[in-house]
Amino acid sequence: MKREDTTPLRAAIVGCGRIGANTAERLRVTLPPVWFPYSHLDALREVTGVELVAVCDQNEAAGRMAADTYGASRCYVDGLRMIDEVRPDILLIATRTEGRARLIEHAAEKGVGGVHFEKPLAHSVMECRHALAAAEAAGVQLSYGAVRRCMDVPRRVKEGIDAEELGSLRQIVIECGRVELLWSHPHHFDLITFFAGLREVEAVQSRMSYEMAAFSGKVLDADPVVEGLAIQFGGGVSATILATGAGVVRVICEMGEYVIGGNTSWLVIHERGLGMEWRQPTPVSVPFTMSGRQRALMELAAAVRGEAATCYTAADILRSNQLGLASAWSAVNEGRVVGIAEVPDDFVVTGRKGDLFA
Ligand SMILES: NC(=O)c1ccc[n+]([C@@H]2O[C@H](COP(=O)([O-])OP(=O)(O)OC[C@H]3O[C@@H](n4cnc5c(N)ncnc54)[C@H](O)[C@@H]3O)[C@@H](O)[C@H]2O)c1
Repeated sequence: MKREDTTPLRAAIVGCGRIGANTAERLRVTLPPVWFPYSHLDALREVTGVELVAVCDQNEAAGRMAADTYGASRCYVDGLRMIDEVRPDILLIATRTEGRARLIEHAAEKGVGGVHFEKPLAHSVMECRHALAAAEAAGVQLSYGAVRRCMDVPRRVKEGIDAEELGSLRQIVIECGRVELLWSHPHHFDLITFFAGLREVEAVQSRMSYEMAAFSGKVLDADPVVEGLAIQFGGGVSATILATGAGVVRVICEMGEYVIGGNTSWLVIHERGLGMEWRQPTPVSVPFTMSGRQRALMELAAAVRGEAATCYTAADILRSNQLGLASAWSAVNEGRVVGIAEVPDDFVVTGRKGDLFA
């Protein structure tokens, strides 16, 4: 229902580290301009009608610094307490994965209107289901840190897929180098879900590198490096993740392909002619309007005001997390083909890398 009240929405954040509040200087140089504003709080500053009222970090100094930089009047070290006392309209969650699902459940219990949380949602399907069920039951608007679907170029491609501009979708190929499952691939699973939609998943198969001793019972105590991954959807659509390449995403349709490159900053369409010959690739100009994070937060605010839904449903977020956990389940089962329904709900990938967790 549309909110009649015109007072600013009140926002609060848990987790004032690199992605919450401190965009690394290195990223300002290495990421293309379409990624900025990048951190939660830099992006929130650009969203009209929302005011940051409280910050929280278990490291008090990090919280204080974020409160001073972004002008929040209240600073906490305990996120649950902040939610209880502040009752924000919008909660941003930029902690590491541990405890994220619990924060979402608590926000739902306390009537928070919308939550933007980092990726992945949780370490197991069970945790994902609980958090999403609590949010859905309470009518919490959802927004997810895998923000490529909010960026201009993927949105242009999605419009093309939906309009069958190049015929029907056949395959999504992501060339991303050897990167970790929980740290990096949630972005790719979300992009695959965005482009492929919620069509049936017939099979998932993956190979990953991790110390053999890291897997025991139903726990993979690692953030495994993905060496190769294939997903077969119903209707003859598939997705492949390759451990090579320069971050290019190819969305292949019957009559041509979309090539997204430059870390989601440019688009080329490579089309086939009527004789199925490949024509010259054509660069497509996609005007930059705002970063994915800014759009994710702007759309979340609009959803909390009852104006429009966000582009993330609970089913999308569950699906993209399930794809990741099914891939890991395949990898720990000697790379055999698995279905997403056979992944035990309590199979856990901790995301450990040395002493740190994703
Ligand atoms: N969407 C993206 O593009 C993107 C990029 C980088 C990282 N991430 C994700 O964001 C998350 C955070 O990454 P980061 O690099 O900012 O980590 P970080 O360690 O720099 O920051 C996390 C902060 O959260 C605080 N924190 C952790 N648990 C807390 C709790 N329970 N209560 C209060 N504060 C708590 C920590 O003290 C720290 O300051 C990770 O899960 C990562 O996967 C997303």
